[in-house]
Amino acid sequence: MTVEIQQKLSSDQIAEFYHDEFVRDQVRDFAELATPLDRDGVVVDIGGGVGYFAERVHAKFGYPVRVVDMDPESVARCEARSVPSQLGDALNPPFSGDEACVCFNLILHHLVAEDEERTRGLQIGALRAWKDHETPIFVNEYIYESFVGMLSGRLIYAITSSRLLSAAAAFAARFVPALRANTFGVGVRFRSHGEWLKLFREAGFAAEAVRVGADEDVKPPLRLLLIKAIRRDSFILRPAR
Ligand SMILES: C[S@@+](CC[C@H](N)C(=O)[O-])C[C@H]1O[C@@H](n2cnc3c(N)ncnc32)[C@H](O)[C@@H]1O
Repeated sequence: MTVEIQQKLSSDQIAEFYHDEFVRDQVRDFAELATPLDRDGVVVDIGGGVGYFAERVHAKFGYPVRVVDMDPESVARCEARSVPSQLGDALNPPFSGDEACVCFNLILHHLVAEDEERTRGLQIGALRAWKDHETPIFVNEYIYESFVGMLSGRLIYAITSSRLLSAAAAFAARFVPALRANTFGVGVRFRSHGEWLKLFREAGFAAEAVRVGADEDVKPPLRLLLIKAIRRDSFILRPAR
């Protein structure tokens, strides 16, 4: 059996995610796609960071929530605001049997390994871990559409996962801030809408409903990466029959 090892961000790199910039859209999409839940239980937010999504879901719908994150500082910040949380790995998630919905908000693209195939394996594995639990999965993910096939996501992964290319890109970013990324040297794997759907199917899930997000501004230097559109889409996944 191949053991796929995730290339992980440092705590300083993760600290850049301690904000609630995308939570409003995530909760709006969760409301539209995932509620009302089929049964009583906990909304588990995998890679839930400092707990803003879980906190708002609890405040808005009254559902019990739990954040699972690998970053001890994120979990400490959840606890400090009384958001139930636990340290845990998306690739080997803790099951309690009380889950009514499992959420992956902007985490799948961080499950990267040393090459494309293993990266795909990690992203599929994180979803497949929930396949036999019959739990709906809510996904909010970055979508990168390209002018040429699905090249942009691959190019960004190639640059951010290579130490040499990341060093060159970080140098260029000193003069062109739009090129900056906190994933340099580790990797990040964005995908097109169609690629994510394909990956979900491979993990054994069907997208029951989809919400396509608004196009974000693509700064001119990013067009060098052949990026046509950037947005955040949401999906509700159910085990495929
Ligand atoms: C981009 S942040 C997203 C935070 C939050 N969900 C949001 O949408 O703003 C990615 C989060 O995933 C967590 N993470 C990355 N890999 C993980 C893993 N294997 N298991 C659990 N958490 C992980 C990071 O610690 C970080 O909190």
